[in-house]
Amino acid sequence: MQINLQIFENTVATSRAVAELIKEKEKATPSDKFLNLAVSGGTTPRMLFEMLGNEYETSINWKKVRFFWVDERCVEPTDAESNFGMTYDAFLQKTLVPGENIYRMRGEEIPEFEAERYRALLRGELPALVGYPVFDLVLLGMGNDGHTASIFPNDLSLIDSELSVAVNVNPYTQQKRITLTGNTINNAHQIVFMITGENKSKILKEIIQKKPTATNYPAAHISTVKGNADFFVDKTAASLL
Ligand code: 6PG
Repeated sequence: MQINLQIFENTVATSRAVAELIKEKEKATPSDKFLNLAVSGGTTPRMLFEMLGNEYETSINWKKVRFFWVDERCVEPTDAESNFGMTYDAFLQKTLVPGENIYRMRGEEIPEFEAERYRALLRGELPALVGYPVFDLVLLGMGNDGHTASIFPNDLSLIDSELSVAVNVNPYTQQKRITLTGNTINNAHQIVFMITGENKSKILKEIIQKKPTATNYPAAHISTVKGNADFFVDKTAASLL
């Protein structure tokens, strides 16, 4: 795996770099095509979403950008835990992105049925390669335990699953999750991890330095078909490097 590491001063600068990347990719997308983006939840991307809503209102042509989700917690969209809900509050409610470009995972539905619906949706909306959908850009976070999407260190089988979208359980809270699997994420043209905060520094170091222990972490198994993974991190997350 070829890790492309970029270290930024703080969360604002890290978020800005990702916002600029989205802008650049939208500009490079032909006018009759979409930029198909899969976004993560959690706390890290909130500032990015706020920034996109406040500062990229007109400089990105939102009609060309389609939003899909990397994972979703199985709760109502209005629940404080909802990944869609967070993105909606921070950004999408400003209606910059046309409603028909928003493809949320429905956390309120029966998870197995919803995963099946989302698999079919991705099959219908995205190009495919070796049976898995192809996103233009997947934005990931990483948990303090090295998890990414809703693939946790206790069970790495979803890295290489025959399914493109699966149901999983957060082993710490038992909350059900719907998640893209590793093969789907790895099929993307570009994969960007956004990682901020000192509490991620130890695991980040193990992954970047390719320590043997890193194989326990789902995040270490993520890279594009060409073998690339971009890490946009802040100084505190990079403090042990
Ligand atoms: C989720 C996520 C998850 C997240 C990491 C990091 O639904 O929880 O999509 O994979 O990216 O847990 O979360 P934080 O940004 O909150 O640290």
